[in-house]
Amino acid sequence: MTDNKLVLIVGANRGIGLGVTKVFLANGWSVIATARDPAKASALQELAAANPGRVSIPALDMNDAAALDGFAATLGGKTLDAVLVNAGVAGPAHRSADAATAEEIGALMFTNAIAPTRLARSLASHIRPGSGVLAFTSSIMGSVALNEGGHELYRASKAALNSLSRGLWGELRGKNITMLTLHPGWVQTDMGGASAAVTVDDSAAGMVKVMESQAGVHKHLFLDYTGKELAW
Ligand SMILES: NC(=O)c1ccc[n+]([C@@H]2O[C@H](COP(=O)([O-])OP(=O)(O)OC[C@H]3O[C@@H](n4cnc5c(N)ncnc54)[C@H](OP(=O)(O)O)[C@@H]3O)[C@@H](O)[C@H]2O)c1
Repeated sequence: MTDNKLVLIVGANRGIGLGVTKVFLANGWSVIATARDPAKASALQELAAANPGRVSIPALDMNDAAALDGFAATLGGKTLDAVLVNAGVAGPAHRSADAATAEEIGALMFTNAIAPTRLARSLASHIRPGSGVLAFTSSIMGSVALNEGGHELYRASKAALNSLSRGLWGELRGKNITMLTLHPGWVQTDMGGASAAVTVDDSAAGMVKVMESQAGVHKHLFLDYTGKELAW
């Protein structure tokens, strides 16, 4: 790794995480880009080959509690200028709280809410005081104020992420870092579908611009990829 600014992107092998990785690289950053299976993360491997010394691809499965809790130690004392905990899942296809099993709910809540916050808490002391940014890819669907119904399980998992990130901010306030809970837009990914309103490139460019521009504000904000503040 060279001496550029360093960002950790969790869940970087496809979709929004891959797009954000490309933008940070274009902006001159070095990137730690996690994937569940780095050997199969061919897009990240191509980026690593094209940007020698600026991309590392550690394995991380957000459903592996031991790996989550051990991840910070693998950083080897590196200081992170920014973190984006991006990995997430849509949950069971039926989308219904009434139809859901305890196992489905547990898996969705663990991946989308518990694991991101648990990982972030363990990373907080590695984030650069002053300009460091800790960000989560949440969703406008996590807003209770803006909830118009539908996708109720996914909404609940992102509302839980928003609540847990707010609780974590209670611990990190005063540590001179910025925390962002971000909505990437409705994006053309495997999750968002081909008819989504926003391209990965536009969403990723906006997410990175927001992360770079909010460095140093030392607040916890719920923002979309254009920088607009959202109601919790
Ligand atoms: N697309 C949208 O319209 C939209 C809107 C609002 C919010 N979001 C949020 O944006 C984030 C990225 O979504 P996307 O649209 O880019 O979805 P995507 O194309 O389905 O990609 C999801 C990413 O999360 C990773 N991931 C899922 N479960 C994981 C786990 N247990 N451990 C590690 N990585 C895991 C995936 O890795 P694998 O390849 O290994 O599965 C993949 O890198 C998610 O948090 C999503 O909820 C998306």
